[in-house]
Amino acid sequence: MIRPATVLRSLPSSASTSRPFIAAAGRSFHASASTQLATPAEAKPSQIKEFKIYRWNPDTPSEKPTLQSYKVDLSQCGPMMLDALIKIKNELDPTLTFRRSCREGICGSCAMNIDGVNTLACLCRIPKDTKKESKIYPLPHMYIVKDLVPDLTLFYKQYKSIEPFLKNDNPPAQGEFLQSPEDRKKLDGMYECILCACCSTSCPSYWWNQDQYLGPAVLMQAYRWMADSRDSYGAERKEKMQNTMSLYRCHTIFNCSRTCPKGLNPAMAIAKMKLEMATES
Ligand code: SF4
Ligand code: SF4
Ligand code: FES
Repeated sequence: MIRPATVLRSLPSSASTSRPFIAAAGRSFHASASTQLATPAEAKPSQIKEFKIYRWNPDTPSEKPTLQSYKVDLSQCGPMMLDALIKIKNELDPTLTFRRSCREGICGSCAMNIDGVNTLACLCRIPKDTKKESKIYPLPHMYIVKDLVPDLTLFYKQYKSIEPFLKNDNPPAQGEFLQSPEDRKKLDGMYECILCACCSTSCPSYWWNQDQYLGPAVLMQAYRWMADSRDSYGAERKEKMQNTMSLYRCHTIFNCSRTCPKGLNPAMAIAKMKLEMATES
């Protein structure tokens, strides 16, 4: 099931055609405009850290995206990047837009690119080095709704396409589907995925072919249902992957597993799926 994400400000439909598309690590835009907003507690300079944050407003679509600078006193801020973003929004600039909900790594809403790494803002500690700025971009290679909010419409559509639910035409006459502890264990490392899209948006194959390649997050969920002993549609699920694009665009580069903020290994799940499909065909 797709968890709802909190969108702090929504996109007017009239602006959707001229949205920027953010390239890898969000570097294909002009970063000239910089606004310095000071906190009242700037008297403690050793604790002041600069955050440079990607901004783009769909209400002014002809204006290029910019990096906007904010200064935050870390002694007056929680330890995580999400704390800094919330502080900036509450105290410095209410127009800054980002998604967040649970603030504990469960909802997946606050996925973004922080200092070059796709991760969850609520699980990412603010580096204590105040001499070095932190740069925050939306997830790379995605169309932008506003500021740090990527458009995940295609990602969710791809997730829906793999039918992420139990399919079995012969339910037990009584009670629930039963599963042995050994079979249940096969789902470990896959069911924990929170669909944050950090892995898919770190995958070069997904960057270039996301209209057809499903990407690591969705492929791991596809395999999660193939591996479930209670599901009887494994063969049909695998058959849907028998084309050149949906699965086989994975070249085992492992960016996905390196970046997963939940410590999961989608590249391994994809490799197992390929192996099973090769040995069964
Ligand atoms: S595998 Fe990890 S990075 Fe990918 S969507 Fe799931 S939780 Fe996010
Ligand atoms: S292992 Fe496959 S899915 Fe993961 S980053 Fe590489 S190509 Fe993408
Ligand atoms: S706010 Fe839910 S994962 Fe970060």
